[in-house]
Amino acid sequence: MHASYRYHHGILGASVGPDWVSVETHLQPGKPVYIYNSASICERINLMKKAFAQLQPQIHFAMKCNAHREVLQIMKSEGLGIDVVSGGEARAALAAGFAPEKIIFSGVAKSKDELTMAVQKGLFQINVESLEELERLGQIARTQQKTIAVGMRMNPNIRVDTHPYITTGFRENKFGISEYQLAEALQKIKSYSPWLRLQGLSSHIGSQIRDISPLVESLEVLLTLSRQLLAQGYDLKTIDMGGGLGIDYYSDDESKELQLLETLGQKVNSILGDTPLKLLMEPGRWLVARSGTLWAQVEYVKFNGYKNFIILNTGMHHLLRPALYKAHHRILPMSLSAPGTQKVYDVVGPICESSDVIGQDRWFAEPQEGDWMAIMDAGAYGMTMCSDYNMHARPQEVLI
Ligand code: LLP
Repeated sequence: MHASYRYHHGILGASVGPDWVSVETHLQPGKPVYIYNSASICERINLMKKAFAQLQPQIHFAMKCNAHREVLQIMKSEGLGIDVVSGGEARAALAAGFAPEKIIFSGVAKSKDELTMAVQKGLFQINVESLEELERLGQIARTQQKTIAVGMRMNPNIRVDTHPYITTGFRENKFGISEYQLAEALQKIKSYSPWLRLQGLSSHIGSQIRDISPLVESLEVLLTLSRQLLAQGYDLKTIDMGGGLGIDYYSDDESKELQLLETLGQKVNSILGDTPLKLLMEPGRWLVARSGTLWAQVEYVKFNGYKNFIILNTGMHHLLRPALYKAHHRILPMSLSAPGTQKVYDVVGPICESSDVIGQDRWFAEPQEGDWMAIMDAGAYGMTMCSDYNMHARPQEVLI
């Protein structure tokens, strides 16, 4: 259930849960805005909790996909933890009121300052990505005489069928350590005992994954290794399966992705059923992508003698996904004028780059200057990937 939009008695509105609310009150001429739907976010959280209920996992929302303060408040009030990837995100999570023991710190390039802060704050788990980082973290923890819980991020060498820029668990990716380095990592952790303590293994193999088998395979790799370590006497507490579950950007029919979640839940329940380890999850997109819409207006409808363009006052500086990954987002025109014959348009933005395309070859009745357009499923990796390129203003954000 994400928002559906339409004009009702001349007022542009959205369905939010059982209610119909006016969106128009949040639309200011000339100002693109991300509108998030709180009912839909809560529903997704509850569905995820339900699918994994048997295991009572600790769900840590991947803040990199949406850091709007009210969205974070929803996560917090629903009892979720948070997954951060920088000192900036860690500080924002703390400022939003997340307790240190609710925060996992991931990321491949944590600086000395960032690790020092993480150790001082006593975060729940630091997911370490290399032997070199272990060394750095060990020194910092020893200097501060503070014991820190390490999650060792493994790279299980699994290819996933998603855009190559968002695979992270293949051996050619910079993330995690490979299995053959684990013994050396354990040695290093031991050499910094008691300041480093191995709390669990973790992995995150990529994003926008729409086939659960690689996710299951990766969890099985983690579990096999964890069992070996438990048998060797390591006091492991957690197993972290990362995030990655995708959505269907081509359709407003959510049934397939809900089914995907259920199947994953059943599989994970059956795999982990009897382990003493606490399951950690780091979902981002699945929880919030559907709940966000980027609203923008038509500046020009242009024919260049060859092709038709709808030029919006938003573009790759506000929503980078289409330009960076050729990602598809549905675009719904919101016009009060009578629909005319449909023509094919490229929907583009104002940025001085030919990659600034939000949608290619889309069919619309000719819109008017000033008409609003809704760019759908933009609640994840939208605003957080926004830039100041060309010095246009950033979009506003509203939660309804
Ligand atoms: N955990 C870690 C360590 C991650 O690196 C990520 C995402 C997640 C969890 C959450 O993954 P999710 O459940 O959202 O798939 N900008 C790209 C996605 C990049 C994902 C980066 N890592 C996009 O717009 O598609």
